Amino acid sequence: MNILVTGGLGFIGSHTVVELIENGYEVIIADNLINSKIEVLDKLHEITGVKPIFYEIDVTDEDKLEEIFSSHEINGVIHFAGLKAVGESVEKPLEYYYNNVVSTMALSKMCIKYGVGKFVFSSSATVYGDQPSPLREDMELKETTNPYGETKAMSERILMDVAKANKGFAVSLLRYFNPIGAHKSGLIGEDPNGIPNNLMPYVAKVAKGELDELNVFGDDYDTIDGTGVRDYIHVVDLAKGHVKAIENLSKGINIYNLGTGRGTSVLELVNTFIRVNNVDVPYKIVDRRPGDVAICYADPSKAERELGWKATLNLEDMVRDTWNFAKIG
Ligand code: NAD
Ligand code: UFG
Repeated sequence: MNILVTGGLGFIGSHTVVELIENGYEVIIADNLINSKIEVLDKLHEITGVKPIFYEIDVTDEDKLEEIFSSHEINGVIHFAGLKAVGESVEKPLEYYYNNVVSTMALSKMCIKYGVGKFVFSSSATVYGDQPSPLREDMELKETTNPYGETKAMSERILMDVAKANKGFAVSLLRYFNPIGAHKSGLIGEDPNGIPNNLMPYVAKVAKGELDELNVFGDDYDTIDGTGVRDYIHVVDLAKGHVKAIENLSKGINIYNLGTGRGTSVLELVNTFIRVNNVDVPYKIVDRRPGDVAICYADPSKAERELGWKATLNLEDMVRDTWNFAKIG
């Protein structure tokens, strides 16, 4: 079975490519390298022994996409390609709407034209907006807090309508919580261009001495220690969830939370990182970051019931593997 993986050289995409290859899938990657490096292709080869077919294209470009769809028999698409920095999306809304929404439209159009019936989409817990956790798939979606979140909510709605109109088109909307960690080989991991927006890659850079100290955004939330609580999930667990989603795709729309169901505060995560890796991470408390919610964690029971998927790696695995990758890179 041939799977087109857009954004396959990025953080979650690259780990999913490994799992797909290890489960016997043929992978075709489309990525424009806007937030990844071409070297990841060699690392994927080193880990799996297989060099996936690679197209350096922008997946909003229908003509370029058509070249791929017309020259390979594609059986399914996993669509990771997207811009993902929440703060940047507030400053550059048009870039975010264009990139994230047009790519979803162009890809689903190609799927319909070429009879590709399986589509897995990278959605986000951000579509729930500010609602009480644990978050469940059947909750009504409230307004999201930023343009990035809106691109995910819009893409979800577009895919729902396309699936309604085309009976052979089955869609899985995977709502990720907070992926961290890295492949155990240390060869692939999260390596964003520029200063990281997300907590874990920022902590890793402070531990390496590349950044002076971590800013902890607020310690006055109504949480265990006042800092924000999130559902951190090991990226390898998340990647395995995609293989299960492809294997168990039923007709129509399927929505799943991919999280652990456990909430961890910023300080709990930082202190676990310090303890497990025996490193220093200086930090200071600063103001809250606008748009942040206090608590966000999943009810992951639907994915366990219907996909037979459950996260298995714990917080210590996550911080150890993050550091194992960061200190090599
Ligand atoms: P990433 O930036 O590491 O990977 C995205 C990849 O897509 C990159 O390799 C980038 O070069 C590529 N890309 C972006 N726009 C493209 C385009 N128009 N054409 C071709 N390639 C393009 O991000 P990630 O963390 O691996 O996230 C993957 C997906 O999961 C994204 O859609 C993101 O919004 C979503 N998501 C991520 C998180 C998270 O915390 N990492 C949480 C929820 C959802
Ligand atoms: N945080 C800090 N300092 C930092 C960075 C983050 O204190 O330098 C805190 C945040 O305030 C928050 C927690 O660490 O409490 C996690 O923040 P991240 O930026 O790592 O993650 P978010 O939960 O804000 O958002 C992430 C992704 C989104 C995705 C969302 C839900 O960036 O794309 O998870 O899955 F939508």
